Amino acid sequence: MASAQDPTSQTPSSRLEETLSTSARVEELSDSDYEEMETLTRHEEANQAYLKSITSPIEDLLDTASSEVQDETLRAVMPFLIGNPNDFDLNSYGLPTLQREKHVKFLKQSLGPFPPQFAAMDASRPWVVYWCMQGLTALGQDISEYSDRVVSTFSSAQHPEGGFGGGHGQLPHLAATYAAILSLVIVGTEEAYASINRQTMYSYLGRMKQVDGGFTMSPNGEEDIRGAFCALVALSLLNLPLELPPDAPARQHGLTSFLDNLGEWVSRCQTYEGGISAAPGNEAHGAYAFCGLGCLSIMGPPKDTINKWLDVPALINWLNSRQSCPEGGFHGRGNKLVDGCYSHWVGGCWALVEAAAGKGIWNRAALGRYILSAAQFKKGGLVDKPGKRPDAYHTCYNLAGLSWAQYDWKYEKSEGERGELDAPYHWQLDGEYTEDVVWDNGDMVNRVHPVFVVPFGKAESCRKWFEEQTWSSKGTG
Ligand code: FPP
Ligand code: ZN
Repeated sequence: MASAQDPTSQTPSSRLEETLSTSARVEELSDSDYEEMETLTRHEEANQAYLKSITSPIEDLLDTASSEVQDETLRAVMPFLIGNPNDFDLNSYGLPTLQREKHVKFLKQSLGPFPPQFAAMDASRPWVVYWCMQGLTALGQDISEYSDRVVSTFSSAQHPEGGFGGGHGQLPHLAATYAAILSLVIVGTEEAYASINRQTMYSYLGRMKQVDGGFTMSPNGEEDIRGAFCALVALSLLNLPLELPPDAPARQHGLTSFLDNLGEWVSRCQTYEGGISAAPGNEAHGAYAFCGLGCLSIMGPPKDTINKWLDVPALINWLNSRQSCPEGGFHGRGNKLVDGCYSHWVGGCWALVEAAAGKGIWNRAALGRYILSAAQFKKGGLVDKPGKRPDAYHTCYNLAGLSWAQYDWKYEKSEGERGELDAPYHWQLDGEYTEDVVWDNGDMVNRVHPVFVVPFGKAESCRKWFEEQTWSSKGTG
């Protein structure tokens, strides 16, 4: 017979109650946890009042690797949300102003040249160019001085058999292709558009299409939702036909269109949690959620496609749980840490979901607080979280996140078709977000296209240019 100390002597329900008991496992953080600074300035008091006004953070008394790194994160972030350790100028809400000039300088430096130890980054060169071009334009910079350099960089990275690699002689990859096309779209000149070989691109994309509906990232490479999104971005911006090329392997299995089985495949990526994973059966993650929603928003009007292929209430519930409290920024998946890049990957999901299901339930002001207070690096550039070094990736995606917080978008399907995959050209600005803002005019970034993540207007110009070109799957143009 089990002794009184033996946990197996408890009934299952009493063990469950003990496990769930708030008094046993959870305690509220006391006020003193937030009062580390002895003398508070006016803005520090206002920030503290705000932090106290949001849901009481709870501390899990069961120490795990996850709870330890979460505590460490709070210790790193809270001083930046309450005070101003970087000594930045403050805006009228008592938050650090957007350090525009410093971020511009950082992004310009991030374009290189780099010391030899950066050689490992070579395959990511298209990404670095894209993050810098997108970040600079978000900050209001004219990037025309880089036009020729960008076009020549990508001309040599274009593979003779289609798509872009990291640089000259590298194998093509859909991620590099995505970053290269978006960079050329941001440059937005005729030379930039004309430098893309649409015929070889079409054939390359045809080789990536899989029988189950998805796309691989490279020949015989991994099939995941980035592939589906990147392929549709290319097909739409370059106004390519939806019909699969004659030599596409998927044709041998009866598929005829790039869209065959795609909605079903994206649907299979939605997990039991409600979020979207890289591929069916994997864990939901914010970056893949954006890719899935972006893909559906290119396939057709988001109201139709998102509602058709996803369980939207479950998705909203999952997305809504991705905003870290009290940090205010987003994390990418359950039990993980706030990180500035999710300001975009998760923050960017909201405009797409709102177009499908009505106004979202996310806290724009809290995201703005995280970005302005905790994600700006003292010397320029933006970061994952305080204590990390800035990089072009986190700079680009924090700034995109600030844009999602600052602007409202609406999707308006006007009469008249523009051709295949024309859905993403029906977005309109619905105005600036004005409730409970924590930024001044000087902290505003530029508008970003909700699907393509390029300056608003640039995707439309690109598509229009390609609509005016004659198409032949064999010839040029
Ligand atoms: C986890 O990293 C990160 C991922 C699982 C997703 C990475 C994918 C992207 C950034 C999307 C790329 C998009 C395109 C369009 C090609 P982690 O485990 O270090 O981070 P975590 O702890 O925050 O989850
Ligand atoms: Zn990150």
